[in-house]
Amino acid sequence: MSMTLQKPLYLIGFMGSGKSTVSRHMSRALDVPKIEMDEVLAERAGKPITQIFAEDGEEVFRQMETTLLREIGAGEPALVSCGGGVVLRPENVEIMKATGTILMLSATPQTIFQRVRHSTKRPILNGNMNVEFIAELMTKRDPAYRAAADVTVSIDGKTSDIVAKELVERICQNGGFL
Ligand code: S3P
Repeated sequence: MSMTLQKPLYLIGFMGSGKSTVSRHMSRALDVPKIEMDEVLAERAGKPITQIFAEDGEEVFRQMETTLLREIGAGEPALVSCGGGVVLRPENVEIMKATGTILMLSATPQTIFQRVRHSTKRPILNGNMNVEFIAELMTKRDPAYRAAADVTVSIDGKTSDIVAKELVERICQNGGFL
């Protein structure tokens, strides 16, 4: 793909929607660096996300997220894989909207459950690993994801490779996003 990314692309969506894998494919296709927000935050804190939540509380994690987003927004264009809760703070959405393009991965609660059921790395889902909880949380968060997104792609029944290709095509079709 011969094009130069002018500003960050923010990949948002519910936990387990495949943001990390899709952003890996996309960063290769578009030849831009990838930033995995959760990884950077865990590195900064010197401990995994579950431990940040347990020892410091969710609010500390959310503040770290906002601080990192500000830095990313002011930095070089990159493919940014955001944590699933990034849209919870209107301030974060403002930063992303002002500095880049927001891409959303959508999925049904059933798809999400199948993808996250064996993971213990998500404090929000630990002890709540069932379709009903996921569906309820998704209903609460969905308006924020949809209001933030410039482009939305469903991942149901697709491989991450296909999803990445779809997104790259959508981006290429619209020069305004780049
Ligand atoms: C969260 C999602 C996680 C991580 C943290 C909180 C959320 O990221 O940031 O556990 O509130 O949805 P992933 O979406 O990459 O799992």
